[in-house]
Amino acid sequence: MKEKLETLLQEAVSELSLLDSEESLQGLRVKYLGKKGLLTALMKGLGALPPEERPIIGQMANVVKDRLEEKLEAALSRVRLARKEEKLRSERLDVTLPGRRRPMGSRHPITQVIDEITEIFAGLGFQVAEGPEIEQDYYNFEALNIPKDHPARDMQDTFFVNDSVVLRTHTSPVQIRTMLKQPPPVRVIAPGTVYRCDSDATHSPMFHQIEGLLVDKGVTFADLKGILTIFVSQYFGAGTGVRLRPSFFPFTEPSAEVDIACVMCKGKGCRICKNTGWLEILGSGMVDPEVFRHVSYDSEEYTGFAFGMGIERIAMLKYGISDMRLLFENDLRFLSQF
Ligand code: DAH
Repeated sequence: MKEKLETLLQEAVSELSLLDSEESLQGLRVKYLGKKGLLTALMKGLGALPPEERPIIGQMANVVKDRLEEKLEAALSRVRLARKEEKLRSERLDVTLPGRRRPMGSRHPITQVIDEITEIFAGLGFQVAEGPEIEQDYYNFEALNIPKDHPARDMQDTFFVNDSVVLRTHTSPVQIRTMLKQPPPVRVIAPGTVYRCDSDATHSPMFHQIEGLLVDKGVTFADLKGILTIFVSQYFGAGTGVRLRPSFFPFTEPSAEVDIACVMCKGKGCRICKNTGWLEILGSGMVDPEVFRHVSYDSEEYTGFAFGMGIERIAMLKYGISDMRLLFENDLRFLSQF
């Protein structure tokens, strides 16, 4: 029995020396010291011994058990320490690695165009005015000399909120709101979002315009032409050709559309300008006295000019964008080019 115990301890210790994981060490403990373990099995034979030997062997068995426990604990703490060191090594942080940078955002091309144009007119003394996008029919149409049932209403396909409220179809109602708020002189531009029931490669149901309005004593058509020529040369480049074409708008008289020499072919004729050499960029004219009447401005004393341009159209011309929808899809591969 004594030898058996000694052999058992020796075997256990030599087995133990080969193990290097917590799991296998726990397995070893079960194998030798568990309820159905080898030591327990050995002790079952204790009863067959002569009574005087039993306490001696029993004590020996306890010593073997304690020795084995000791060795196991020592091996376990060695293994745990090794594992912890390995973990620390593998999870080591390299604080010298460069950080992950968030890509820098940028202003949307439409915002950029609005800002650039606003800047140019600010330099000419214009202040920025604003108005609501959900607008009363009165400001969007009536006060701009577009009465109900007038054929001019067909020029703009309108989203109606109800009989008297619309999504503004242009920024021109800001003219009315501005003049109702202040006496002349007036010198404002009004950038903003507008809505029309229209959608294809060159029309979007939501788009942007910049309105301009200048009212003072003695303002003439020459001032209109002068201001717009300065704008064109600053925005599209000095020497860009400008021409005014007679047109019609209910709120201006006379009215003109302004063309610039084609930015692609410089006036020679190409696909973009449909071989005319010219590109239309805005509508304009002298404020109709009927509009002044709605805001109680004295049209005998004051005259003024107004203009309105589509921002998307300007952006498309300036950057050679062929499909307006690109401007609203917000694909970063497109946007990051600006
Ligand atoms: N509101 C017009 C439109 O959306 C553009 C326009 C034309 C505005 C002539 C004006 C103007 O101020 O004088 O088609």
